[in-house]
Amino acid sequence: MDYNQIYAENHNYFGNPFPEILEFFESRVSSGSVLDIGCGQGRNAIPIAEMGFEVLAIDLSTEATDQLSKLACIDNLMVECIDIADFEDWKAFDLILLDGFFHFYDHDIKKETYQFQFILNSVRDDALLVICFANHEYAKSRFEGMTESLRKVHEDVIHYQYIDPITELTFETHYLLVVLQK
Ligand SMILES: C[S@@+](CC[C@H](N)C(=O)[O-])C[C@H]1O[C@@H](n2cnc3c(N)ncnc32)[C@H](O)[C@@H]1O
Repeated sequence: MDYNQIYAENHNYFGNPFPEILEFFESRVSSGSVLDIGCGQGRNAIPIAEMGFEVLAIDLSTEATDQLSKLACIDNLMVECIDIADFEDWKAFDLILLDGFFHFYDHDIKKETYQFQFILNSVRDDALLVICFANHEYAKSRFEGMTESLRKVHEDVIHYQYIDPITELTFETHYLLVVLQK
């Protein structure tokens, strides 16, 4: 997927944030520093920063981070264009948000398994990982196999209807929101 092109053509490509994610931050966590990995156009980073969390939103798309930097004039929201492979400041964060970052499709499973293990090894020991991904049964089962050593803090299934702004096709799907503590 060419996210630079997608984001350039539509300034709100993924639409509104899932209320279930924001509710988790609002009601289950009192404060902390948040690393939003693959933040896209900031649909989560902005409201979470507005709640008072210190947020660093990172993405490798220059278009996404340029748009978000211009849009978000909030003191506690920082934006950085970087590939997670090059990110180093992992231990500074209490919460790691991954919304739509992992899919676990066949063609991505090797890369994403490596990335998940890399993130897990990098974050600090008590960090919370807030992960939202399409709830294909095979993806869920593959993912669960990788997280047996972690404590599950929260789980929610999100029913989601999405109208692709480019094709105008409607998709109905279920997302899985899972919060794990290292
Ligand atoms: C499906 S989008 C989700 C965007 C956002 N989290 C949201 O929910 O609106 C995935 C994002 O991850 C970013 N991404 C993919 N691989 C990345 C990497 N290795 N490092 C940083 N960002 C990455 C993409 O550029 C894209 O913006």
